[in-house]
Formats: sequence, structure tokens, C-alpha cells
Amino acid sequence: MSKPEPLPILCFPDPRLRTVAQPVAVVDERIQQQIERMFVTMYDAKGIGLAATQVDWHERLIVIDVSEERNEPLVLINPEVVWASDEKRKGEEGCLSVPGIYDGVERSVAVKVRALDEKGQSRTVEAEGLLAVCIQHEMDHLMGKVFVEYLSPLKRDRIKTKLLKAQRDAERD
Ligand code: NI
Repeated sequence: MSKPEPLPILCFPDPRLRTVAQPVAVVDERIQQQIERMFVTMYDAKGIGLAATQVDWHERLIVIDVSEERNEPLVLINPEVVWASDEKRKGEEGCLSVPGIYDGVERSVAVKVRALDEKGQSRTVEAEGLLAVCIQHEMDHLMGKVFVEYLSPLKRDRIKTKLLKAQRDAERD
């Protein structure tokens, strides 16, 4: 089998990004193939995380790799936060669905998440720093939430206008 092609990534303010994802019922070959396609898409786009929602697939499935070498793939299926630190920090975030936009979002500095891995085994992931931020960001996607929703309505509207114009320009070319 050849390597799958990258999937198209939905762009804010596409209404499909607001869809709330359903739990994965069983981790089977269909899910494993989707995981592989999501990793191809994420690495191709040079992202550190991708939620299924972003490729218009509405099941609770996330792929992440925050390593410099791009060799530490992490799969989270049906993730649930079991603990989040009270300590929060504001850090700059970006998103493959909001290209070219970076802004500050406040998140817990550490989280503990329970999820299934790509074999359907339950695991607990303890994360801090960039990984903790990434997990919270991707889990928001599964709830239909994009990081720009943490920004002021004025900023969000400016981003919406800018991205809609960029999408129209791209369609014209
Ligand atoms: Ni994102």
C-alpha cells in the first residue's frame, strides 16, 4: 500500500469546525487508517497536532507530535481530562485551521488525560508545557471550538474577515 495523500484541512470560519465529535465506538482498521491519514496530513502541514474535526471527521480522535525530530507520534482516542492544574499561563497559539494567525490563550500549565491509544489500550498521559497546551487545544476542536473563540469578538471578527478574503482570493487563482 502506498502512503495516503494528505487530507484537506477545514479553515475557520467553516461551520463544520463547530461540530461536536462523537466517541469512537471501536478502535478497528477503519480508525487505524484514519490515524495514519491524519499523521500524513499533520506532518505535511508542519503542524504539531491535528483533531479529526479539522479534516471533517467527527469522532473523538487526535494526533500529536510536539518533538523537534518529528518522531514522537501520540494518538489520543476518546480523551478525557482527569486533572488540570489550577496554575494557568497565557501562551501564543496557532492552528492549521486558522493559517497565519497567532495569539495568546490562557491554558492550564499541566494536564492529566485518559485516552485510548491506536491499539485500543487505555492509557494516562501526564503532560506539561507545549504538550499540555497542544492537548487542550486539540480537545477543544473535538468540542467544536477553535482557539480564536478565546479572543475578543473584535479580534475574532477581524480574523474571520481576513481569512474569508484569503479563501476568496485563493479560489480566484
Ligand atoms: Ni487547531
